[in-house]
Amino acid sequence: MNGHAILDAIQDGILVIDKQGIVKKINNEYTRITGVCAQDIIGKPLLEVRPEAQLVSTLKDKSVRVGVYRKVNGREYLVDMAPIFDGDQVVGAVSICKGKQEVLDLTKTIEQQKQQIQWLQQKVEASFQAAHHFESIIGYNQGLKEVTAIARKAATAPFPVLITGESGTGKELFAQAIHRGGKNASQPFVPINCAAIPTDLLESELFGYETGAFTGAQKNGKLGLFELADNGTLFLDEIGELPLSLQSKLLRVLQEGTIRRLGALKEKRVCTRIIAATNQNLADLVSKGLFREDLYYRLCVFQLHIPPLRERKEDIPLLAKTLLASQSDAKAVGQVNISDEALERLKHYHWPGNVRELKNALQFALCMMDEPVLHPSHLPPHLATDQWQRSTPMSFTPPTSLKAGLEEAERQLITNVLANCDNHLEGKKQAAKRLNISLATLYNKMKKHRL
Ligand SMILES: Nc1ncnc2c1ncn2[C@@H]1O[C@H](COP(=O)(O)OP(=O)(O)OP(=O)(O)O)[C@@H](O)[C@H]1O
Ligand SMILES: [Mg+2]
Repeated sequence: MNGHAILDAIQDGILVIDKQGIVKKINNEYTRITGVCAQDIIGKPLLEVRPEAQLVSTLKDKSVRVGVYRKVNGREYLVDMAPIFDGDQVVGAVSICKGKQEVLDLTKTIEQQKQQIQWLQQKVEASFQAAHHFESIIGYNQGLKEVTAIARKAATAPFPVLITGESGTGKELFAQAIHRGGKNASQPFVPINCAAIPTDLLESELFGYETGAFTGAQKNGKLGLFELADNGTLFLDEIGELPLSLQSKLLRVLQEGTIRRLGALKEKRVCTRIIAATNQNLADLVSKGLFREDLYYRLCVFQLHIPPLRERKEDIPLLAKTLLASQSDAKAVGQVNISDEALERLKHYHWPGNVRELKNALQFALCMMDEPVLHPSHLPPHLATDQWQRSTPMSFTPPTSLKAGLEEAERQLITNVLANCDNHLEGKKQAAKRLNISLATLYNKMKKHRL
């Protein structure tokens, strides 16, 4: 291949001199940037044509010069210069130049990209911030206070924490409070529900992967959640659902403090605090061989069990009033009170969905109210009457027909499942899954039963 053609293909201006300072080569881009043509300069001493050129000094002191600003005949450009060696002998020198405007354009593009990265970083940080702290935990039940005291200690220690408790008792609330109470409170809090992601995806979610690790992988690789939560907290919800293969990988992270992306050769050090939660009995899972015993002991350095709401009914009035106040604030509906009768109803219910169910019931009531006081009639149907207690054979009231009975049973079942799920789309999806119906069917039935 012709040497000239190669030089002309390069998008930087190039000028080469020999060890006597005679110009041997220039390319088209050099002419475009400086305005100097080949016939004006090739074969001539560089200093004769360009008296202020520094390239000849490069020959003498054998040093590299970078980003030298030049303005000749009104043309501005930046030049890098380097000696050319043959063994340890300098045989010439090369200068590489770029037009000032191009450098400015490039700098501008880099600056814009830097700003975009900063913006994305802020967005990522904002979406991985824990909203709750210890002050968010409402309740003065003795059991709850004891758990909170242990959680406060756990927050300042660097060890894993295992939180157990029924659905809706506040496991994630505690996890966030522990994160916010620790020294890395400003770092990300990254939650992941181990039951919600298929096993084969879970591994790449947690550990990430390198470019081209497998077919269908993103082209630039993927950052795993351990890395995303570096210096912060990874909240592994429903840890009992973590497949055994990933349990051993998690144990390794806890022991070594390193992770390896899928397809990567090297391990990477991460400093990620692990908080795990489950509503299953992990010790039972261990005895059935479904959960690794060594991981279980690693995780439960601090074990917190959150009591269900039915065992701390003394907290219901305070919880109800505080939650109602914050929900009415959020909806800007003014101050709302709760009647003693309604409080009595709440206190007598068994709350299978715990605080989440209470929160949802209050939200429902708030929508039903057209006065500033919440009465029993505003509560969801299964709370407004003592129907839920009547489901025992003792107080069974026969329906008017089989169809009506089935409809009522369907309504109650859906109400109950919904009460145990989060009030957002994810909760609805979960409810549909539990009922083994599609999301669309669930919405249709909710509409039919006015839920
Ligand atoms: N003691 C409490 N004080 C105030 N709010 C609470 C309390 N306990 C729970 N909550 C609220 O109840 C809702 C459910 O809590 P959270 O999501 O932490 O429960 P969970 O135990 O993680 O449930 P699940 O097992 O279904 O994931 C949240 O909105 C949370 O803020
Ligand atoms: Mg949870």
